[in-house]
Amino acid sequence: MSILVTGGAGYIGSHTCVELQQAGYDVVVLDNLSNASEKSLERVKALTGKEVTFYRGDILDRDILNEIMEKEKIDCCIHFAGLKAVGESVVKPWEYYNNNIAGTLTLVDVMRQHGCKNIIFSSSATVYGDPAQIPITEECPKGQCTNPYGWTKSMLEQILMDMQKADPEWNVILLRYFNPIGAHQSGTMGENPNGIPNNLMPYITQVAVGKLKELGVFGNDYDTPDGTGVRDYIHVVDLAKGHVKALKKIEENAGLSIYNLGTGHGYSVLDIVKNFEEATGVKIPYSIKPRRAGDIATCYCDPSKAERELGWKAEFGIREMCADSWRWQKNNPNGYED
Ligand code: NAD
Ligand code: WQD
Repeated sequence: MSILVTGGAGYIGSHTCVELQQAGYDVVVLDNLSNASEKSLERVKALTGKEVTFYRGDILDRDILNEIMEKEKIDCCIHFAGLKAVGESVVKPWEYYNNNIAGTLTLVDVMRQHGCKNIIFSSSATVYGDPAQIPITEECPKGQCTNPYGWTKSMLEQILMDMQKADPEWNVILLRYFNPIGAHQSGTMGENPNGIPNNLMPYITQVAVGKLKELGVFGNDYDTPDGTGVRDYIHVVDLAKGHVKALKKIEENAGLSIYNLGTGHGYSVLDIVKNFEEATGVKIPYSIKPRRAGDIATCYCDPSKAERELGWKAEFGIREMCADSWRWQKNNPNGYED
């Protein structure tokens, strides 16, 4: 089977390419490299021994999408391509709505014109807003997003659900990721943020490697056991494997399905600092800063639906997530730019 992986050179996409190839799928990547390096795909090949067919281009570009659909006989698309920086989306809402929403509308239109109606979409826990219940099940109502990025995910879920309802030939799987961290165990692939990281783990690893001075902990007065924010961190390789399981579900013509992909465990910011220090032996200096706008206190999921229906369960624990993030950062202090 031939799988189109949009955004396949990025963090989660590149790890998913490895798992797909190891499971025997042919992988075609479309990525405009706006937030990635083509070198990630060389690392995929080094790990799997298999070539990734790569198209450098944009999901907004019908011509390249038509070319791919004609040449590559795509059976399913795993759609990662999108802009994802929460703060940037507040400053550049048009760019986020255009790239993520118009891009996805273009992609699915070309797909259906070529008779390919199978899609796995990268959604996010952000669609739950400030969650109505903890742990969050898929039945938990979607909430008010606090930024345009979050709204693109929420709106795209609605668009894909409506399309599937109108045309049941579509198979749509919405995967709501919690907080992906970690890196491939080889230490050759990992997260490669541009500039100063927004997310916790890449910030910690850049402090550990000496690029940043200390971690700012955004608030210690939340209603959580130690006052710092609690999240459901999930190893990126577990997440990647979730996509392979979702593909099996697509092959059963399952219509519409929605799954939380997380571990079901909540860790605070200070838990992460402590686990990182214990897993790596590297001390992380930190200081308490004011709360970050838009943050919520606690977010972790009930991942049992994915276990029941996909046979998927996260295998890696927080120590492995920390150790693997560190191995990647230590071996590649400048990401793929070395
Ligand atoms: P990433 O930025 O590493 O990967 C996204 C990739 O898409 C990049 O390689 C980028 O170059 C590419 N891209 C962006 N716009 C494109 C366009 N118009 N045409 C072609 N390529 C384009 O991000 P990631 O962390 O790997 O996230 C992958 C997906 O998962 C995104 O949709 C993101 O919103 C979603 N997601 C990520 C997280 C997270 O915390 N990392 C959590 C939930 C959901
Ligand atoms: C985790 C915790 C911070 C950085 C974001 C997006 C979400 C999803 C995943 C895409 C929070 C604290 C962080 C720092 C800190 N992405 N923190 N100091 O905000 O849970 O989720 O990524 O869909 O949509 O919002 O992740 O890693 O930024 O923060 O104290 O320098 O770490 O306050 O409690 P978040 P994060």
